[in-house]
Amino acid sequence: MTRLTALRQLPQSKLFRPGDVFVLFGELFGRGYANGLINEARQAGMEIIGMTVGRRDENNRLRPLNAEELAAAEANLGGKIINVPLMAGFDQDAPEGEPTPTDLLAALSLKTWQDDKLDWAHIEKCRQIGVARFQAGVAEAMAQLDQLIADGRNAFFAHTMAGGIPKAKVFLAIANRVYKGQGERFVSSQTLLDSDLGKLILQNFDEVTANTFQHLIDGSAALRRRLEAAGGQVRYTAYGYHGTEILIDGEYQWQTYTNYTQGYAKMRLENVARAAWEQGVKATVFNCPEIRTNSSDIFVGVELPLLALLRALKRENGGAWAESQLRSCAALLQDGHSLDEVLAKIDALNDSAVMRGFRDFNAWPMPNSPELADTMIGASDAIVAMHQDRKALITDHLSALVIEASGALMFGEAAAPAGPVLWLSHDIIARQLNAAHG
Ligand SMILES: NC(=O)c1ccc[n+]([C@@H]2O[C@H](COP(=O)([O-])OP(=O)(O)OC[C@H]3O[C@@H](n4cnc5c(N)ncnc54)[C@H](O)[C@@H]3O)[C@@H](O)[C@H]2O)c1
Repeated sequence: MTRLTALRQLPQSKLFRPGDVFVLFGELFGRGYANGLINEARQAGMEIIGMTVGRRDENNRLRPLNAEELAAAEANLGGKIINVPLMAGFDQDAPEGEPTPTDLLAALSLKTWQDDKLDWAHIEKCRQIGVARFQAGVAEAMAQLDQLIADGRNAFFAHTMAGGIPKAKVFLAIANRVYKGQGERFVSSQTLLDSDLGKLILQNFDEVTANTFQHLIDGSAALRRRLEAAGGQVRYTAYGYHGTEILIDGEYQWQTYTNYTQGYAKMRLENVARAAWEQGVKATVFNCPEIRTNSSDIFVGVELPLLALLRALKRENGGAWAESQLRSCAALLQDGHSLDEVLAKIDALNDSAVMRGFRDFNAWPMPNSPELADTMIGASDAIVAMHQDRKALITDHLSALVIEASGALMFGEAAAPAGPVLWLSHDIIARQLNAAHG
C-alpha cells in the first residue's frame, strides 16, 4: 500500500557548494524537467557532468556521439558529457543475427494486434541482452566519472530517464488511438495492456523508467563508498509521477491523468528508492506535477490539472509577482476570453462524474474510457482554442514555472531528504515560487 507523502515544508538545509559535482543521468531537452535541477546546480557553483543515450548507426547499432554531436550536447548542458551510450530498454536488442522485439512488432497489423502473440522466450533473451548492455555501459561511465570526482566532494545524481515506447509503425497508430482517440477511433488502454504488444511495452517501461535507477545506484556504489569514506555525501533523485494534489473546490485534492500507462513502472521506481533508502542510500523519487514537455505532449489533456496552479499561486501568499504571472497568462488568450472562463472550464471538468470516478488513489493507474477521452480531450481542445497562438499556451508558461520550482525544491530537499518518495503538489510549488519571487 502506498500512502501519499507530500513535501509540505520548503527545504531549509544546504549541502552542495562550489566544486561539488552534479551528474545528470539522462539527456537534457529544452523543455524538460531536468532544466530546473541544472539551474540550481549551476547557481550553487557545482560542476555539471552529463550522460548520453548514444545514437544509432546505419546498421542500427548503438554508438557514442560523434565529435559534432558531443560538442552540441556539451554546449546545451553547460558541462562535460561522458560519451558512453546509455540507451535503456531492450526493444532494439537481440542475439546476433536474430530479430529484435521491434522487428517482431513489424509483423503486427492494426487489424490483428489485439490477438497477435509474441515469442516470450525470445523476448526474454533480448531483455537480458539489453540489461547486460546497459549495466556494462553504466560500469564504463562510472569508471570514467570516478576519475572526475576528487575526494572531499559531494555528488548529486539526478535520474531523468523515462520512456521505452518501441519504434514500431503499428504502435504509433495505436498510441494515437489510446491517448488521443475519441468516438470510433477510441481504443481502451486496458485493451492495449491485455495484448502481447502491451505486455512487451510494460516490460520495456520497467527497464527504462525504473530499473535504470537501480542500475545507477548499484553502478555508482564504489564511487559512493569512496566519496563517503572521504567525508563527502552522495544523493540520488529521480522524477516520478503518481498523480498530484491540486486545488479542487477550494481544497488540495489528489487527481491524476488517466491512463498513465507508465504508472506501473513509476511505482517500481518508487520501490527502487525505498529499497535503497533501507540500505542507507539517500535516494528520493519526487512525484512531480503534470507539465508539458517533449515526453508528455503525446498525452492530450495531461496539461489540464496544471491550470489549477493559477489559483494556488494566489492562495499561497501570492503577491505582486503572482498577480503579474496571472496577467501574463491572461495576455495569451484571445480577446473575449478570460482566465475566469478557463478556470470555470477546469471546475466543470473536475466536477464531472467522469473525472470524479478517476480520483481513486488506491486504484491508480486506472484504464481510460471513451467518456473520459471525450471529456478530457474536449476540454483540452476548447481551452487551446481560446488562445491567440497554439504555440504559446498558458500551460507552457506554467510548465516553465513548475520546472523552476521543482528544481529548487528537489535540490534543496536532497540536502537532507525526508524520505524515499515525496510528492510535489501545487501547494508547495506555489509556495516555493512566491517565496523565490516575493
Ligand atoms: N512531463 C510531465 O508531466 C512529468 C510529470 C512527472 C514526472 N515526469 C518525469 O520527469 C522525467 C523527465 O521527463 P520530461 O517530461 O521532463 O521529458 P524529457 O523528454 O525532457 O525527458 C525524458 C528523459 O528520458 C530519457 N530517455 C528517454 N528514453 C530513454 C531510453 N530509452 N533510455 C535512456 N533514457 C531515455 C531522455 O534522455 C530524457 O533525459 C521523466 O522521468 C518523466 O517521467 C514528467
